[in-house]
Amino acid sequence: MTDDSNKVWQGRLSGGSAKEVDVFNSSISFDYVLFEEDIAGSIAHAKMLGKQSIISKEDAALIVDGLQGILMDLKDGSLLFDPNAEDIHMFIESELTERIGEAGKRLHTGRSRNDQVALDLRLYVKKQLAEIKNQLLDFEKVLINKAEQHLHTIMPGYTHLQIAQPVTFAHHLMAYAQMIQRDIKRLEEALEHTDVMPLGNGALAGTTYPLDRQYVAEQLGFEAVTANSLDGVSDRDFVIDTAYALSMIMMHLSRLSEEVILWSSQEFKFVELDDAFATGSSIMPQKKNPDVAELVRGKTGRAYGNLQTLLTMMKGIPLAYNKDMQEDKEALFDSIRTVKLALSATIPMIDTMEAKRDRMREAASKGFINATDCADYLTKKGVPFREAYGVIGALVQTCIATNQTLEEVSLETYQSLHELFEEDIYEAISLENCVTKRNIEGGPAPEAVKKQIEQLKERLGLSILSD
Ligand code: ARG
Repeated sequence: MTDDSNKVWQGRLSGGSAKEVDVFNSSISFDYVLFEEDIAGSIAHAKMLGKQSIISKEDAALIVDGLQGILMDLKDGSLLFDPNAEDIHMFIESELTERIGEAGKRLHTGRSRNDQVALDLRLYVKKQLAEIKNQLLDFEKVLINKAEQHLHTIMPGYTHLQIAQPVTFAHHLMAYAQMIQRDIKRLEEALEHTDVMPLGNGALAGTTYPLDRQYVAEQLGFEAVTANSLDGVSDRDFVIDTAYALSMIMMHLSRLSEEVILWSSQEFKFVELDDAFATGSSIMPQKKNPDVAELVRGKTGRAYGNLQTLLTMMKGIPLAYNKDMQEDKEALFDSIRTVKLALSATIPMIDTMEAKRDRMREAASKGFINATDCADYLTKKGVPFREAYGVIGALVQTCIATNQTLEEVSLETYQSLHELFEEDIYEAISLENCVTKRNIEGGPAPEAVKKQIEQLKERLGLSILSD
């Protein structure tokens, strides 16, 4: 048993709680990060209590002052978090009472830790979503900037990791820009579900005090207040929405990382990482390893695991608050930290990565990448596509046997397979033409990619303005 039997919630309990229980119950080792949100929420609550004459204006002023002092002292390190406190909320409240006495004990009027923790977490998630959104916007700019430099850099496009059809490096990068754009949208959607103010829900059934919930929401910059007190204290959808949006970001970063790892291998050599974003080996002097990309790929599992943790944690909880929900924090915080770290390393890595134009072009000229265009050549002359497909299949077989590319095969060989082949076949299957002719909306032709870039720039401009 612990000797302090004077916990604020001691109420009906006699004696102290077991030391093991205190350790097991405590969340201050991780929820201390909420201190700024907790203090901001308490200041808004205290001001409202004063305004509504639920407590005296003098007490409200004392509380606000006391809380501001605590905030300053925590920030400059002169006040340390008490590891024995139950959580950040109890720590700040008892510190306040120690500092200002009686008035401090009035702060919790009309409030429960259940609506308090929901408020703190929402404030925290709002701030983090904004920060991650800014990182994603930076990433978009880097991708667009690089794409603009590589509108004409031909590279092989793959399916099944087998050479398929030629694209450009710009087109490939812009595919990621589209993913990141959707990630931004998902963050905005998560924000919409987060931006709702829960104070006033009390423990579960609201309160008899005439709280002004709208006033508190305005003070704290919330769009709305929660509509149902049971839901308001036990809703963690916004946490799961956030964890899902963060998982999707990690999935995209992981796919890009996997490509960077492949591209920087000796076999591909499509890119060269800047030395600042690569590492060496302790034994093999020749090595230049893409550790950053590998770690991003590896850390993706954390984000997925955290999402699973949260979904599972919530699935069996009867209304309203249950202590299970304290488990939301470590998973959420870890996903936030992981995504921020991954982005902060990935963005400059991509920015400084050098694309090897010659190598990409060389790889694109192998593997019969223009076979579809060869078939299209006949099709455009009236041969049904399936028949043309068969002709080119036979041609590719011949090429494999003679170790030639489609560009190297003689016109006689072409004509022996189909009489409609003429001299212009060579132009039709040049890689440049294969790419520039795919000038369909969303296609890899430089003109089409330029349009794609313009459209995204416009959208980004708009979403920056709507901030
Ligand atoms: N530390 C708790 C949490 O994170 C705060 C809420 C506690 N509420 C309660 N009724 N015990 O969920």
